[in-house]
Amino acid sequence: MIVDYVQGDARLVRLALGSALGQLAGLADPALPIAPAPAQHQALHPLALLAHSAGRRLAAGAQRSDRAGELVLGLRRERQPGVFFVGTVVRHAGVRYHVMMHLTTKSASVRGSGENGHAEGAAPAAPRALSPRFYLSAEVLQRELETVFSRTWQYAGHVGDLPDAGRYLTATAGDQPVLVLRGDDGEIRAFRNVCRHRGSQLLTGSGRCKKAIRCRYHGWTYNATDGRLLGVPEHRGYAELDKSKLGLMPARVETLAGLLFVNLDPDAPSLASQTGDLAERLERYRLSELVRFSDFGETSQPANWKLVAENYLEGYHVPIAHPSLMRLYDYKRYGFELHDGWAWFEAPLRDSPSGNRLERLYQRVVRPMPGLGPEDRNVWRYAFVYPNTTIDLHPDQVTVWQMVPAGVEVTKDIWGCFGPERRGPLTRLAQRLNTHVNSGVLDEDIDLVAAVQRGIKTHGYEPGPLAAKEGAVGWFADRIRADLGEVGT
Ligand code: FES
Ligand SMILES: [Fe+2]
Repeated sequence: MIVDYVQGDARLVRLALGSALGQLAGLADPALPIAPAPAQHQALHPLALLAHSAGRRLAAGAQRSDRAGELVLGLRRERQPGVFFVGTVVRHAGVRYHVMMHLTTKSASVRGSGENGHAEGAAPAAPRALSPRFYLSAEVLQRELETVFSRTWQYAGHVGDLPDAGRYLTATAGDQPVLVLRGDDGEIRAFRNVCRHRGSQLLTGSGRCKKAIRCRYHGWTYNATDGRLLGVPEHRGYAELDKSKLGLMPARVETLAGLLFVNLDPDAPSLASQTGDLAERLERYRLSELVRFSDFGETSQPANWKLVAENYLEGYHVPIAHPSLMRLYDYKRYGFELHDGWAWFEAPLRDSPSGNRLERLYQRVVRPMPGLGPEDRNVWRYAFVYPNTTIDLHPDQVTVWQMVPAGVEVTKDIWGCFGPERRGPLTRLAQRLNTHVNSGVLDEDIDLVAAVQRGIKTHGYEPGPLAAKEGAVGWFADRIRADLGEVGT
């Protein structure tokens, strides 16, 4: 579908979106009544729209895509469990605009689009995996750093890492260094981790910087609360020096149930708006009160970060590749939900004892953490925050995992394991057994994903169809294609 688009002409955009929405929703009459959206949608973009059809409310958002002046438009039906993205290209005056439409469906099963993400009526089409070049190309990785990692919410740490004023931690958003600190006023702020003089990285690791951050190279000093440049050694020796313009470069920071996320894009939608009711679902785990009890630290694996993410996003391989999970999971009840910017997985555990001694012991000793009820004892839940953070919610602990590209074919894994501050011997035992099971699963996954990385290099290979159980892989692929713009088409 190619639609015309004139920047600033809301009427044409409305027509285009109305028609696209009608086609996607399979409506007999694609001419939907569409009006400007309420303020919270327009905050996303002034062209945000609202449509009603057959009593259903459909929201349409729009956001800037990248520096080249592309525009991404999003449509979504609100508060429904399934979501579908489709990308299309709008051309106007020689400029290509990438239009990303999200169609939310009643169930988690997605309904399709035509080839290359162009909407072609309401005929269901299979979700498509990404083609091999997405995992093998330096150009794609470069584009991802610019349009995915520089615009999305990147996990940086836990509020407990910054317990009082002057504490800081360092993180990266893709390949971009960031520092997060708690200022004198108690607020948590984020800045780019770079000195405005000659570009030295300012802080490493985590710790306490008191009231000021002093660059180790020539000693420029910044206020640790608001990032102002305070002092420059031998400042009379500069022909030009406007200290008011040389404060630390700000980044955004938000918390999700006690987890800190940073974003380099001043215009990106808030994390809260991206994650809907995820914070509510996490609340019972009291994540902000949990403490780090072990840290796998950083590991790495020989595969593109998206293969690692996609492996996480589907349970289809569990019966074949993870015998321990098959002994623990009630696999038939394994399910998932897809939302705009996050996905949710539920793996209810079996009532019957595992045939493995250590797993059986885990089943016996595990108790729900404070805040959880008996209904949370027998289920492992998993949340995925697009594009690269996972939150594993087990009755005895929460594990956060961030997958960061460290090269086209290398992924750096950043881990955090959190549990209640006071842990009795049984809780410790359950956590050790849990770690034992999940380390084994992780080794199996690393091996599986590495095999895919090797296999997709085969000339002539194109991805096969995705199973319904791999719906989240198609969801992820659609998001990546849409975020990459031209490189993704
Ligand atoms: S690079 Fe930081 S003071 Fe020179
Ligand atoms: Fe797996």
